[in-house]
Amino acid sequence: MKGAHRRIPASRAWVCAVLAAVLIHPAHAGPAWGERGIAATVHPLATDAAINAFKHGGNAIDAAVAAALTLGVVDGHNSGIGGGCFMLIRLADGRFVAMDGREMAPAAATRDMYVRDGKADIKLSQTGPLAVATPGALAAYDEVIKRHGRLPLRNHLLAAAEIAERGFTVDSKCAARLRNLVSVFARFDGSRAVFLKSDGQPWAEGEVWKQPDLARTYRAIAEHGTGWFYGGPFAQTVGEWMKKNGGVLTADDFRNYRLKFREPITTKYRGFTVVTFPPPSSGGVHVAQMLNILQSFDLKSLGQNSADMAHVVIEAMKLAFADRAYWLGDPDFTNVPRGLVSPDYAKTLAARIRLDQVSVVAGHGTPERAADDVFGKHTTHLSVADAEGNWVACTTTVNSTFGSKVVVPGTGVVLNNQMDDFSVQPGVPNSAKLIGAEANAIAPGKRPLSSMSPTLVLKDGQPVLAIGAAGGPTIISQTLLGLIGVLDFGLSVDAALAGPRFHHQWSPDEVKIERAFAADVREELRRRGHKLVETESIGVSQAVARDPVTGRFTGAHDPRVAGKAAGW
Ligand code: DON
Repeated sequence: MKGAHRRIPASRAWVCAVLAAVLIHPAHAGPAWGERGIAATVHPLATDAAINAFKHGGNAIDAAVAAALTLGVVDGHNSGIGGGCFMLIRLADGRFVAMDGREMAPAAATRDMYVRDGKADIKLSQTGPLAVATPGALAAYDEVIKRHGRLPLRNHLLAAAEIAERGFTVDSKCAARLRNLVSVFARFDGSRAVFLKSDGQPWAEGEVWKQPDLARTYRAIAEHGTGWFYGGPFAQTVGEWMKKNGGVLTADDFRNYRLKFREPITTKYRGFTVVTFPPPSSGGVHVAQMLNILQSFDLKSLGQNSADMAHVVIEAMKLAFADRAYWLGDPDFTNVPRGLVSPDYAKTLAARIRLDQVSVVAGHGTPERAADDVFGKHTTHLSVADAEGNWVACTTTVNSTFGSKVVVPGTGVVLNNQMDDFSVQPGVPNSAKLIGAEANAIAPGKRPLSSMSPTLVLKDGQPVLAIGAAGGPTIISQTLLGLIGVLDFGLSVDAALAGPRFHHQWSPDEVKIERAFAADVREELRRRGHKLVETESIGVSQAVARDPVTGRFTGAHDPRVAGKAAGW
């Protein structure tokens, strides 16, 4: 299938896209290079931690964990040990590990725990004690280091603890975030102590923010092991605080937290092998599903960021997100059909896409053998690789900005609000406007559905790309667009991440689109029937790549944030 409507020559569209990206995102200054290793994260101190891990003899797994633990200190609104993560690892020997460190609902969680007088009160799933699910990130970091790292977890924890003690300079964005949340932080003693100064004011731009409690927590874990967190004083303190403050999370929930090793999803796209994260991520399923749909279209001939290309991709997004809302949930609790990622199912969906106008997607589709062939059951992404052939794509989160906004006094740890990723009531949108069904209803011990999509790409068996994103459901679209940029249009990682983005999640029926898109393209999309919601910026992605011929690494952070990519 090919679109013939108002085709822009691919070369012209490509030049426009890159130029637009450079103009809109002046931080776009070419990729970082490396021979022995590469890392890209949203914060310079976290990328430096990764490079330091390499310098001390660590591999990509060490570097990724060092970066993640540092992000928990300097970028705590996005991620930390009070949250969860998915880590997709390709080991030097060619094996893949999909480590699921996603949070679990507390044992006392119930399907209607946020329903008051018959109506879901989404404030409760988003802020405060009831929003918190049992964190999994630390357990995941510990496990991957034990199995595949070279340096002890302790080293990475102590390095990050030092930064927490010494402090870091608050930038304008961080200051604004803190300012906006003053009244919420003030509700919780522990949060007030961390985020507000003794005069009740938040840390301001240019000030050095020190986190002695978090440093002590990191040091205690370094000394006593993760048992201190999951089966010892930390869990006890949190459990007691929750009991007094209306939460349901207990010390037993921490003790009973279980990591899961998952089977990654693999699909073929334009001669590349794309490996991505399975449920309870919806990201991997739908990135693979959309790539399968897009196989039916020659995107390159439609033109990078042309209206034709954007139209086809938006239509694929709608179809995939309609399936997401119905089928996706924790595979240990609900049947998620494998057929969602089958090329045959994708062909039936591709056939529904019209090139000249929007299609009506009334609801989900039904892949083959939906009943019996099923998956065995604010955020940040970092990508790291080393010359031995170890690659890590890790997305980690406390969910929305500073998670539940709860820090239990004395711990310094921001607790997630991942419970809001469940469908709190059928048809009731969560903070990301996502709706869900039975598959993603709350149940004790269940993992909330995620959009996190850490993804690796191989060519002829050799890894060539690690990519992923932050930004709720737009993660899926960003990852898809990054993959299309590199795999269809041959862009370098920095150009692919700088390119303008769009996102459609089926419900609401609208396309979020960056203003960096050419005005005539936006106009043409409107003419075909798309409802556009223009925005300055969508999401944050980090990617690293390797040229299979020269062996040289490149890496890029998203130019929309002041991150850092570095090689060594
Ligand atoms: O797992 C998920 O899909 C969400 N909790 C991610 C949230 C997110 O990306 C917020 N960020 N910017």
